[in-house]
Amino acid sequence: MKVALVTGITGQDGSYLAELLLEKGYQVHGLKRRASSFNTQRIDHIYQDSHQTNVNFKLHYGDLTDSTNIIRIIQEVQPDEIYNLGAMSHVKVSFDSPEYVANVDGIGTLRILEAVRILGLEQKTRIYQASTSELYGGLAENKNEKGMYDENSPFYPRSPYGVAKIFGYWITKNYREAYNMFACNGILFNHESPRRGETFVTRKITMATAAIALGQQDCLYLGNLDAQRDWGHAKDYVEAMWRILQQDHPEDYVIAMGETTYVRDFVRMAFSEVGIIIEFKGHGVNEKGFVASCSNPEFQLEIGKQVIAVDPQYFRPTEVDLLIGDPSKSKTQLGWIPQYDLSGLVQEMVAMDVDRVKKEIMLNEAGFRS
Ligand code: NAP
Ligand code: GDD
Repeated sequence: MKVALVTGITGQDGSYLAELLLEKGYQVHGLKRRASSFNTQRIDHIYQDSHQTNVNFKLHYGDLTDSTNIIRIIQEVQPDEIYNLGAMSHVKVSFDSPEYVANVDGIGTLRILEAVRILGLEQKTRIYQASTSELYGGLAENKNEKGMYDENSPFYPRSPYGVAKIFGYWITKNYREAYNMFACNGILFNHESPRRGETFVTRKITMATAAIALGQQDCLYLGNLDAQRDWGHAKDYVEAMWRILQQDHPEDYVIAMGETTYVRDFVRMAFSEVGIIIEFKGHGVNEKGFVASCSNPEFQLEIGKQVIAVDPQYFRPTEVDLLIGDPSKSKTQLGWIPQYDLSGLVQEMVAMDVDRVKKEIMLNEAGFRS
C-alpha cells in the first residue's frame, strides 16, 4: 500500500486530493494546524469515517514554520509521496503579511525537501510542490506564440505570495538537480469549487449570487472587474497532481484550461444560473451592475436594482491582469483530461450555494418559531 503525506489537507485542494488518494488505495496522512476553532470542515466526512471503517486516514498536528515537527512526522510516516499544498494562499492578504508568507510558502517548501534529505529518503519519497500561475505575473510579453504561459515562459511575480512561491519553485527544482530527488512543480492556474475559500473572487461571487437571489443580501462589492483568469475545477486539478508523481521522470507541468475570462463575465455567468441577467454600466470605481431581467419565478428581483458595486479596498498594490495557461504538455505527457468546463464549474458552485442559503433560511425560520 502506498503512503502519502499531504500538507494543507484542510484546504480546498487537500480535501479533494485526500479523497482521490483514498479511492486509489493509499494510506493518507495529513498535516493539520492547531486552531482555536474547528478547521477540518472540508475533511470531516473522511475523518468521521476514519473512526469506523477508514483506518487509512490519519491527521497529525504540525505547521510548515516548524522544522522539528516536519522531520518527526516524515520520519514516522515514511511517505512514498508528499504533496506540499500547505500555504498562506491569498494573494491580497500576502501584502499584509509578507514575512509570514515568505516563511510558510517559501521556506516551508525547503523544510519539507530538507527533512526528506536529512532522513535519507531522497530515493524513496516523491515530492509534489504546489507552484502557481502567479509566478508569471501576467506580463503580456512573456506569453508563448499561442498567447499563453507554458513551462518555458519567464516568471515575474507581482506579490509577496508570488515571490515566496518562486523560492518554492526553484528550491524544488534545485533539490531535484542537486540530489537526484523526484521533486516536481505543478504550475497550477486558478482552480475553484464549492469548497473554495470564501474570500477568493469566484466563491465570493457565487455566495453573493445565492444570497442576493434569495433576498438575503443587497449588493456585492468587488475589486478589479477587468482582471482575467483561467479557471478550472479543483477536482480535475488534484488528479493532475497525482499524475505528475506517477511519471517515470520528475518534471514540471502547467495545469490550466487554456481559456481566460473576465471577473465581470464570471459575475454574469453566476447570476444567469439563477435566471438573472446583469447589465454593467460605468467604468473603473464607478462601474455598477444592475438587474436587467429575471426569468426564474423562484428568484425575482426588482428590475433596475443595483446588485454589483466596486470597492477600491479590494484592489491590490500590484495586480496580475491576465492569466491563461497552455496545458499542451500535461495533456500529451500526463494524459490529463479535465472533466469540467467553466460553465459546469459555475453551475455546481451556484447550485451548492443556493442550497446552502436555502437551508440557512429554513433553520433561521425554525429557530424563530421555537
Ligand atoms: P487553501 O484552501 O487556502 O488551503 C491552504 C492550506 O494550507 C490549508 O489547509 C491551510 O490550513 C494550510 N496552511 C496554511 N498555513 C499553513 C502553515 N503555516 N502550516 C501548515 N499548513 C498551513 O488553498 P488551496 O486553494 O487548497 O491551494 C493549495 C495549494 O495550491 C496552496 O499552496 C496554493 O498556494 C496553491 N495553489 C492554489 C491555486 C488555486 O487556484 N487554488 C492555484 C495555484 C496554486 P488551515 O485550513 O488551517 O488554514
Ligand atoms: N479575492 C478577490 N476579491 N479578488 C477580486 C475581487 C474581490 O472582491 N474583485 C476582483 N478580484 C480580482 C483580483 O484582483 C484578481 O485579479 C482576481 O479577481 C482573482 O482573485 P482571487 O480569486 O483572489 O485569486 P488570485 O488569482 O489572486 O489567486 C488565486 O489563484 C492563484 C493562481 O493563479 C489563489 O488561489 C492563489 O493561491 C493561486 O496561486
